[in-house]
Amino acid sequence: MNSKPGDFMSMFRAEDGLILGLAPMAGTSTPPFRGLVSELSATFTISELVSARGIVYNPHMEKVSRYLLPDPRERLYAIQLFGHDPADFSTAIEILLAHPVYSQTDWIDINMGCPVKKVCGTGAGAALMLKPDLACAIAAAAVEAAAKFNKLVTVKMRSGWDAREINAPSLAGRLESEGVAGITVHARSRDQFYSGKADWEIFAAVREECSLPLCGNGDIKTAADIRRLQELVRLDAYQIGRAAMGNPFVFEQIREGMKSEGLPPEISSERWLKAVLNHLDGMIELLGQEAACREMRSQFAYYVRGVRNAADFRDRLMQTEDRQSAVDILLEVAERRG
Ligand SMILES: Cc1cc2nc3c(=O)[nH]c(=O)nc-3n(C[C@H](O)[C@H](O)[C@H](O)COP(=O)(O)O)c2cc1C
Repeated sequence: MNSKPGDFMSMFRAEDGLILGLAPMAGTSTPPFRGLVSELSATFTISELVSARGIVYNPHMEKVSRYLLPDPRERLYAIQLFGHDPADFSTAIEILLAHPVYSQTDWIDINMGCPVKKVCGTGAGAALMLKPDLACAIAAAAVEAAAKFNKLVTVKMRSGWDAREINAPSLAGRLESEGVAGITVHARSRDQFYSGKADWEIFAAVREECSLPLCGNGDIKTAADIRRLQELVRLDAYQIGRAAMGNPFVFEQIREGMKSEGLPPEISSERWLKAVLNHLDGMIELLGQEAACREMRSQFAYYVRGVRNAADFRDRLMQTEDRQSAVDILLEVAERRG
């Protein structure tokens, strides 16, 4: 189907030409949330990172996170893998793409950007940027395994390890030679984690070294941000991360904002409540009531951001054990939003 890297962009359809994806976020990019943002106009979604070795050890996928499952509302979705061993990627991708459900993934994304010690300590995530030969060997193994199933592979990376090692441009160029179909750059170095301002200048530098489709990521929240980026560099797609947490409407707000300048229209409380309940009920269906209510606590905290008395609502939502008590508080929040 899409086995040639050059065909990658042909999968994407956005009526307004703006390809906006939900960035992979551990704990947030669950199937119900990915489905919800897709309904609200996200062009593509990516699962949270999952260990390639974890899949190798669980070839029947029973103990692998349910957060990788596709949601029927997704337009295009990718599974993201992390690891440090090319052989793990070959095997994990073959397991995934031979599986009746996970084979629905439209492509495979490789994580070369995760900054956390637990991941980097094993040589995976952003640590791969320090070992470009290994990064390329992993990409080559993944591309070869995926090609057997006519699927493509992309890579998400940081701008570099730290300010002295900004090597996204050269690594992206090398990955292109390994048959990777697209690159996403989070415009921060590993040592910045998620703080400091994203430095969008890196995108143009990557463009110089690599002619693959390029997706920009980092501090993109509004239509004004996209306009500023468009003045700097031509990007093929944009990934929105934290701005989507608790605001699945951000994709349509950006699309609206591209049509006319000024603030996007407020989301009515009715639509807001419908979206939160859709998220909650999807999680209950996936995990059962008790686990879902626990998992949703951190998400509720994002949903109530900016509402008057948010701290009070957040504290109460943090203690909810069942759907009804969460709904009661969310109804109050909706009323408060007006
Ligand atoms: C809580 C959290 C979890 C994340 N998990 C992942 C992940 O699993 N894989 C990944 O590639 N990036 C992950 N990221 C990084 C985001 O995909 C994104 O690159 C980063 O948040 C910058 O984009 P933003 O400024 O739009 O949030 C995570 C970020 C956050 C805040």
